[in-house]
Amino acid sequence: MIKLDYLNVSNQIIGEEGLDLASSFNEYAPKIQEIITNLNMRKDKPGSWLQWMNLGYNEETVWYVKEFAAMVDGRFDNVLVLGIGGSALGAQALSEALLKPYWNLLDKEKRDNLPKIFFLDNIDPDQISALLEILDLRKTLVNVITKSGSTAETMSQFMIIKDKMQELLGDDYRKNIVATTDKQVGILRQLANEEGYKTFVVPDDVGGRFSVFSAVGLVPLALVGIDIDEIIRGIKIMDLTLKNTDINKNIAAQNALIHFLMDKQKGKYLSVMMPYSSRLKYVSDWYVQLWAESLGKEFDRDGNKINNGPTPIKALGATDQHSQIQLYNEGKNDKVITFVRVDEFDNELNIPNIFEYTGLNYLGGKTINRLINAEADATAVALSDYKRPNITIRLPKINEYYLAQLFYMLEMQTAIIGELYNINAFNQPGVEQAKNYTYALMGRLGYEESAAELNEKINRGNIGGLNA
Ligand code: PA5
Repeated sequence: MIKLDYLNVSNQIIGEEGLDLASSFNEYAPKIQEIITNLNMRKDKPGSWLQWMNLGYNEETVWYVKEFAAMVDGRFDNVLVLGIGGSALGAQALSEALLKPYWNLLDKEKRDNLPKIFFLDNIDPDQISALLEILDLRKTLVNVITKSGSTAETMSQFMIIKDKMQELLGDDYRKNIVATTDKQVGILRQLANEEGYKTFVVPDDVGGRFSVFSAVGLVPLALVGIDIDEIIRGIKIMDLTLKNTDINKNIAAQNALIHFLMDKQKGKYLSVMMPYSSRLKYVSDWYVQLWAESLGKEFDRDGNKINNGPTPIKALGATDQHSQIQLYNEGKNDKVITFVRVDEFDNELNIPNIFEYTGLNYLGGKTINRLINAEADATAVALSDYKRPNITIRLPKINEYYLAQLFYMLEMQTAIIGELYNINAFNQPGVEQAKNYTYALMGRLGYEESAAELNEKINRGNIGGLNA
């Protein structure tokens, strides 16, 4: 199992900046017990948005995903994922972590004849144009993923790509599309029904940022040969572990409570995610979305205006030791830093002892594996010396089983801290305003009034001024 090492948030190590963990765990034990019990009791209630807790047990979906991957095996050179936010970040983070680094640059043999994988999660015209120049769309399987079926970014990409595919392939273009969307509603579902695309379902009551273990994540991962059975095994074991209502035995509850108390009692509301592995770089992106969209809320469940704001920050070890650590050691003491440390990397790389009579001889003859973990440990201790709370999540290895544990643990931790804050962690009302404004600016029917008002606002402010 993955492990959580949180001693460096305790007052034994960082003095009054830290928590009295034993008494905090004791004090909150009944509350945590109540939260975990409630989450598990509520999970099957429609509208509770807790169906992500059941994704480890969805054998049928896993079977259909594997069946589809087997069916298209060998037919495509590329998989192109169209999606944004929760519809892209999970699969992107897991494929980046689990595939061999530089996967798309490897030749076919080294990829075991599996396709390259690309994610388009933005609407940058230069990026999209460049990608279309590289990809042979005839040999590309497009997985368009949107729960709502109407997200402007995803659907505009799809419209561009579908048009080009149809030009190249005629009616056969359909064979190159797989859509993942709601089972009944939304424009993409309607299109898929009309045009006959292969589809997968985003289950009810699973929000985007909690959807990585549904078809949203499993389809692209299976298409590039990632072992989704091992992913499911990892979720299940972590789910069982996290069913334990005793805070002393539940790492998601422990980490949720630590972050909650650090925010409420110590004013440390920034959460830095810093894995020490380049393969885990996008895990931080996924975590940032999970934490930010779930916990940044204007109102609590009782309608009080609270502007809740624990704020996530992404970092990468060892790279960001040369960018952010100065601030974390000596700047404002308002953060909890989480390291993800990998015990055993796939490769062991020796540093040759070639500069024996220089100041570099301490490196020669050691492994670079030892260096990266020494830097992780050294940074944790240095932060503790500066009285900065830090936590280390230990991964025995980077593989499907342990990463699934990590992701599921972070999801559960987010759900639990949401309850501690007494907020709804599963909605995102704050993204609607700009969405509606965009519809108005793009001339969507029904938004005319808002468009006039908006143009006035733009012209009175800097944006209009700068554009003029
Ligand atoms: O977590 C979320 O709910 C969001 O980030 C969504 O995933 C994102 O907005 C994309 O939505 P959709 O899948 O409807 O295109």
